[in-house]
Amino acid sequence: MIEFSRFSYAYPTSTAPVLRDIEVAIPEGQVCGLVGAGGAGKSTLGYAAAGLIPHALGGDFTGRVTTAGRVVADTPLAEVVTEVGLVLQNPFNQISGAKYSVRAELAFGLENLGVARTEMVDRIDGMLERLQIAHLAERSPYELSGGQQQLVALAAVLVMKPRVLVLDEPTSQLDPAGSRLVFAALEELRGTGITVLLIEQKLEQLAEYADRVLVLAEGSVRLDGEPERVLADPRLPEWGVGTTRFTDAARRAAELGRWPAGRDLPVTLPTAVAGFTEALGETR
Ligand SMILES: Nc1ncnc2c1ncn2[C@@H]1O[C@H](COP(=O)(O)OP(=O)(O)OP(=O)(O)O)[C@@H](O)[C@H]1O
Ligand SMILES: [Mg+2]
Repeated sequence: MIEFSRFSYAYPTSTAPVLRDIEVAIPEGQVCGLVGAGGAGKSTLGYAAAGLIPHALGGDFTGRVTTAGRVVADTPLAEVVTEVGLVLQNPFNQISGAKYSVRAELAFGLENLGVARTEMVDRIDGMLERLQIAHLAERSPYELSGGQQQLVALAAVLVMKPRVLVLDEPTSQLDPAGSRLVFAALEELRGTGITVLLIEQKLEQLAEYADRVLVLAEGSVRLDGEPERVLADPRLPEWGVGTTRFTDAARRAAELGRWPAGRDLPVTLPTAVAGFTEALGETR
């Protein structure tokens, strides 16, 4: 569970609040997507959920953030990180710098948690396999590509089995095959009770994977609801958020009077196919 209650925040160097009056409760087990233009405050909201705010970044903070049952500001960061995993937007910043191989990097957090040796090996081997990075196990994390670093950063967080996971654009440097691995790994976590805040620009995947989507603009939540509804909202461009090609095609069809009246615009392929099939009167 992640709960923001009347939460506002400014960095020490900010001249105006970066987040304003955020009131959002993400229940246990939910996957909540977060979209917004560059600079909207998405990463900042992720830092607040994961305790970097206020513990590492300081700043002006009002309201309350509760993550995995703990009031973040009142809980030492060392304790927050035992329950909350954060994958940073830039995977290079995630590398501990203390370890010389990917395998050691994955063991780093587990050693700190005091996980038994045999279980550690099992978890690490399983995760290397699942994210198809076993061949990188003995390589230095620094000599990997951005996409490979992104998979390693995710693996290092997932082996810790966090109750809450904050993913900041975890597929930004990955090709479609790499992105599918990430989404498949997240799909496997569904039903384990893990709560996920997923910052992601790939709207089609977000619609498929998230239970709910928030739209953030200039530090405020503008929309909050079902992915298919939120991601087809005609106001998204005003807030600097793109639309999927399916929404664009259907909107064009609607302008030409060729989209079924009263049907929501689609975000994903299946809903687009259903809508166009209906529009064609199922002539076949
Ligand atoms: N460490 C920091 N110190 C001061 N200001 C910051 C810091 N990090 C971000 N900001 C500012 O806070 C605002 C929100 O930034 P944030 O990184 O949260 O946005 P974002 O939605 O994640 O953007 P992007 O899509 O580019 O990742 C921006 O104005 C940014 O310049
Ligand atoms: Mg960001």
